[in-house]
Amino acid sequence: MTRLLSAACLTFALTALAAAQSPPPRYGIGTPAPRELVAALDIDVRPDGTGLPPGSGTSREGGEVYGRTCAACHGANGQGGSAEALVGAEPMASAPFGPEYERWRSGRADVPFTIGNYWPYATTIFDYVRRAMPATAPGTLTANETYGLVAWLLMKNGIVPESAVMDADTLPKVVMPARARFAPDNRAGGAVVR
Ligand code: HEC
Repeated sequence: MTRLLSAACLTFALTALAAAQSPPPRYGIGTPAPRELVAALDIDVRPDGTGLPPGSGTSREGGEVYGRTCAACHGANGQGGSAEALVGAEPMASAPFGPEYERWRSGRADVPFTIGNYWPYATTIFDYVRRAMPATAPGTLTANETYGLVAWLLMKNGIVPESAVMDADTLPKVVMPARARFAPDNRAGGAVVR
């Protein structure tokens, strides 16, 4: 009986092994990806603005959207709430990020990292907000709403004037205060240490 069982086991194991070694031509998983679906997901915006959609928005328009869809988590003025602060431009021009900055910042618990003092590219705010916010319903903002929100966030951080109009042309030209505070990674590959 035992011998019969182990023979059966061996046959089973060999069959399983053979199956594992020759995968079926099709697995039958997944669904076709229509062009519209791919287009809806293909929304990345690069630092230089490549990928920004048509449309525009002002801080006044953005402020209205913000009050309706963002304030509940990020605070009425972007000061933070259940989610992090979005406004806080301090310091505008202190040392580059690194040990000196960390020493300065460790004595200033009131200085959060925000998009205003930490993000190097304004275009990334557009990319992130359109892709990920509001956290409960990502992907629901129109291009105009997103441009307006970015204008409002930049205005609140003291980076653009209240009258600024954000669009695919103006947004990439905004220079973020933190831009110069990152060291560009110009390693050529290999064991190069900066
Ligand atoms: C339901 C709560 C909620 C709402 C509403 C919401 N957010 Fe957020 N937001 C979050 C959370 C949580 C994070 C942090 C996500 C993470 O770190 O992965 C975040 C992160 C962010 C960040 C990145 C902050 C940073 O410094 O990394 C931005 C910018 C932002 N939200 C903008 C918005 C805007 C604009 C809206 C309105 C359209 C919005 N959020 C609505 C919860 C929310």
